[in-house]
Amino acid sequence: MAIMVRSTAISLALALSLGACAKPTEQEAEAVVSATENMTAASFGCIRDLTQVDRFFVGNIDGDLQATVAVASSEDGGIFPVGSVVQLVPGEAMVKRAEGFNADTKDWEFFEFDVSPEGTAIRNRGHVDVVNRFDGNCLECHAKADERFDMICSTDHGCDPIPINDAMIRALQKTDPRCGAPLELTTEESEGLAALIAATGGS
Ligand code: HEC
Repeated sequence: MAIMVRSTAISLALALSLGACAKPTEQEAEAVVSATENMTAASFGCIRDLTQVDRFFVGNIDGDLQATVAVASSEDGGIFPVGSVVQLVPGEAMVKRAEGFNADTKDWEFFEFDVSPEGTAIRNRGHVDVVNRFDGNCLECHAKADERFDMICSTDHGCDPIPINDAMIRALQKTDPRCGAPLELTTEESEGLAALIAATGGS
């Protein structure tokens, strides 16, 4: 009899703990919805307020900056966590959306911006059909990155090169109009910026 009572007590405790488990799981499912769902132009600002990792800048809109930096700085690559924001230049960004956003882009959303002292305006955003101001499709290039690097091109992951050299990249980063006063440019960077403005008609 005593044994029976104990086993009833155990199954009751089990049922209770299973019941207790079910609830937080539902809540968790709600909690994991990413803030990337609600991103607008106002979600983006001065590129230099993000964290610099090597050549580019990263952030995480869902708060896990450490996880994003860990993948971005790993020599072996890795899958970027949901919420990751990656920017090389002020006018473009990649944002890691929640799983299921788009399998072809590995859930990256591509953005193209117009930036000014007033802030950010979104020129173009989406997945497979976003093109940059040189008429290049973001995905076509970024998909060529070695599988390990989750579509991050850098200089040696296998993507076709962009028509912007290092001095131009640094100049664009230093003169993001959303950051206030520009940082001082080297002669090479000033010349690069002038050439770039001439090539793109200032857009
Ligand atoms: C012609 C190929 C090409 C196209 C088109 C292109 N990219 Fe890239 N992208 C690159 C390469 C190559 C790099 C690395 C350049 C470097 O580090 O000097 C890069 C770098 C980046 C980075 C920094 C992280 C990384 O991959 O190194 C972001 C973010 C980015 N591009 C976003 C975009 C977006 C958004 C678009 C479309 C609006 C776009 N790119 C279109 C080739 C391309």
